Amino acid sequence: MLNSKLSNGVQNIEISGIRKFSNKVAEVEGAISLTLGQPDFPVPAKVKEAMIAAINENKTQYTSNAGLVELRNEISKYLKRFQINYDKDEICITVGGTEGIFDVFAALINSGDKVLIPNPAFPAYESCTKLLGGKAIYYNLTGNDFSIDFEALESIIKNEKPKVMVVTYPSNPTGAILDKEGKEKLHKIIKENDIIVVSDEIYSELCYADKYYSLAQCEDIRSKVIIVSGFSKIFSMTGLRVGYVCADEPYINAILKTHQYTTTCAASIAQYGALDGLKYSLPDAAYMKEEFKKRRDFVYKELKDIGFEVSLPKGAFYIFPSIKKFGMKSEEFCESLLVEGKVAMVPGSAFGNNGEGFTRISYACSMEELEESMNRIRKWINAK
Ligand SMILES: Cc1ncc(COP(=O)(O)O)c(C=O)c1O
Repeated sequence: MLNSKLSNGVQNIEISGIRKFSNKVAEVEGAISLTLGQPDFPVPAKVKEAMIAAINENKTQYTSNAGLVELRNEISKYLKRFQINYDKDEICITVGGTEGIFDVFAALINSGDKVLIPNPAFPAYESCTKLLGGKAIYYNLTGNDFSIDFEALESIIKNEKPKVMVVTYPSNPTGAILDKEGKEKLHKIIKENDIIVVSDEIYSELCYADKYYSLAQCEDIRSKVIIVSGFSKIFSMTGLRVGYVCADEPYINAILKTHQYTTTCAASIAQYGALDGLKYSLPDAAYMKEEFKKRRDFVYKELKDIGFEVSLPKGAFYIFPSIKKFGMKSEEFCESLLVEGKVAMVPGSAFGNNGEGFTRISYACSMEELEESMNRIRKWINAK
């Protein structure tokens, strides 16, 4: 029943299914958790040193609302490696990509505006849309590689006329990346339609293909693309909460306002950490990527061997096997596996109804944990 004291928006949303499931792990003694998207590596030494120095130098005041100018300059330089061009004044530092998503949506969405979201997807897009009174509509990711059905997408855009569209590459939860052909097709659709794209590129450093493709590389639709990204995954600093948004005028100025009234600025100490991370710790990020790739290959091979239908992810640190052949809904599958097999994964349904029939495994944990969990899964499946 609706509570008249609470906003309609908040009553329309739920705590994320990822968190719900990861919280259950604590209740099962000895369970291994493959639920959270957080690297198991320590934060790079240079990031730590920069934060310690910042504390000792009393750099604990507010920074400018948009964030440290040195950090924005460094982000601008970093993005050029991906052929993405944003000036320091087109960047706003946020408290993680999560705040970035909220700020961008708060700057764009009026009550009733439609937001077109991939299905399956990271749950924040749907929840932020609903919280702000917008209407979430979906485009399905289909086939073995969870790609976009472009014909269906075009027809949704023509018929529903969404104001905003979200794309996430590399993808959480599927591990899919944007390839050249996908980029070209999306580019054409965006160019031809009156729509703003929010491109969540928080896993950009974790692309296992030779080349990285992003819609933000297309200069002619620059005014229609907003990037959300951050440092949680690249520098294994999820708890330090530093992210950023890049956008053209007038969007960046609008986002600065929503950012100002939600958080004022990201924590100064953590911003100094991110700054030296970009300056000195990209080799650490490259090392983590190589390690994730080994883990991906291991988990993929093991899952295939156990009998799962699964495709090789090309980015991020998630793998999204089908569980359809086991005749259980994803929530039931994950519950039973947790209680009986002592391994926790996230039900695919936590990412949207099109995620039903799949589970998400995060392989951002140690090789030992992955080996042990694959053994447990094999034993549990064989006993079924
Ligand atoms: C696709 C995606 N976007 C954004 C975020 C937010 O990350 P953070 O707020 O830690 O920067 C996450 C976190 O898991 C994610 O998977």
